[in-house]
Amino acid sequence: MEATSQIQKQPEGAQGFPFIGNLPEFARDPIKFVTRLQRDYGDVAAFSLMGTKSVLVSDPKEVDRVLLETGKRYDNGKNGGSVTQETILGNGLVTSEGDFWKRQRKLIAPAFHHQNIKQYADLIVDCTQDMVETWQNDSVRDVHQDMMTLTQRIIMKALFDVDVRDNASEASEAFNAMMHSMGAELKGPEAILPAFVPTPSRTKMKQGVEYINSLLLDIIEKRRSDSTAKRDLLTMLMDARDDDDQPMSTVQLLDEIRTLYLAGHETTATTLSWAWLLLSQNPQAYAKLEAEVASVLNGRAPTADDVQQLVYCNAVIKESLRSYPVAWITRRVALEDVEIGGYQIEKGTSVFLSPWVVHHDARWFPQPDAFLPERWLKDKAELPPREAYLPFGGGPRICIGNGFAMMESTLILAAVLQHYHIEVLPEHPIEIEIVGTIRPKFGLQSRFTARSS
Ligand code: HEM
Repeated sequence: MEATSQIQKQPEGAQGFPFIGNLPEFARDPIKFVTRLQRDYGDVAAFSLMGTKSVLVSDPKEVDRVLLETGKRYDNGKNGGSVTQETILGNGLVTSEGDFWKRQRKLIAPAFHHQNIKQYADLIVDCTQDMVETWQNDSVRDVHQDMMTLTQRIIMKALFDVDVRDNASEASEAFNAMMHSMGAELKGPEAILPAFVPTPSRTKMKQGVEYINSLLLDIIEKRRSDSTAKRDLLTMLMDARDDDDQPMSTVQLLDEIRTLYLAGHETTATTLSWAWLLLSQNPQAYAKLEAEVASVLNGRAPTADDVQQLVYCNAVIKESLRSYPVAWITRRVALEDVEIGGYQIEKGTSVFLSPWVVHHDARWFPQPDAFLPERWLKDKAELPPREAYLPFGGGPRICIGNGFAMMESTLILAAVLQHYHIEVLPEHPIEIEIVGTIRPKFGLQSRFTARSS
């Protein structure tokens, strides 16, 4: 039995200002802040944000334990009534808690089961080929924008059988407004302003959500009047009944669909964008990847069955997600006094886990700043520790779209490489923008060279 009351040790940590705590340093550069925290104070490091006691946990075994105990000793930490939650995510799968979350997760999970996601492979490849056909040889384009438009189209077609190609740029604009305002809530003036204070960023956030909702409502209305619609996730959600035989309210339906749309495309797009950058910076790995794609596909379009054969391609995606884990930090809240790594952590403490910090720790990943897809191709005993790799989180709240995202990224990379060589311009400025996820602040201007030429 765990004797938490006998553990006296309190974690050491960064001194902050009264009330706002370490917010200024966190806001200036959140990744630098958590990296420094781990370096200076170790694997359980204390800090505070706006009066909330916080710890950063960086020992993979302890991180794993926190993730596994979510739902029992921790909750997902999203129930604080934040502006981001109330406006953008609502009570969808990312933010809901307890029995309600359990029920919704059970409802949505089958759409992402291994056997079921295979059916999306052709759609992913077809959408990628549509995109490739619009490109021109020897042109300069923003590959990040291309990846965003592509994954947005794929997620909407795959889950809700809707083609958003015509609304792609308005939807992207609304999405970007939401992401920027999420960043502002984290590290802008909004981080210290009460939720009821309207700011330009919050107004833009609301307008973005309203636009996305109007698109989604239209989709729901069309589906309600279409008796011949196929059985996709949207139909399943609309047909679901609770214990009292009641359907989901329209607001709840919108929250779930909006959440899947938001969580399901920028993450994958940005992962691919970082992969294009890392490949451009590592010509040897790039050449190896191109050779694999040529030999496995031999000129034909990739299929679901090729994913297993595209071993190096998969390692490139894994290593990109290690180097740039787009969901770079996550938070849990202790529901009771807990012990972490021998330290006593009080009930109510925010427990932060940062894939960025763990993935760049030389104890688990030698040469952490090097791009080495080969580290994923070793014998089992030599692979990095399982708990040290967490781009999709872990425990019961592990990313529901994890298998989908891995298959999608592999197929997109292969289907693009068959036709084009993409190289991020060496002079293009690279800076990480933290907007909830981490993405290239200035996009990624790249040279597109067609294969046949
Ligand atoms: C490379 C792409 C992706 C990455 C890196 C990623 C990352 C993550 C992470 C780290 C979490 C857990 C957050 C936490 O523990 O607090 C998560 C949760 C989630 N992801 Fe993803 N994700 C990706 C793609 C997707 C896709 C394609 C979908 C599908 C629509 C999706 C839907 C979700 C949902 C709904 C949750 C919440 C699950 C729950 O709490 O039950 N994600 N994702």
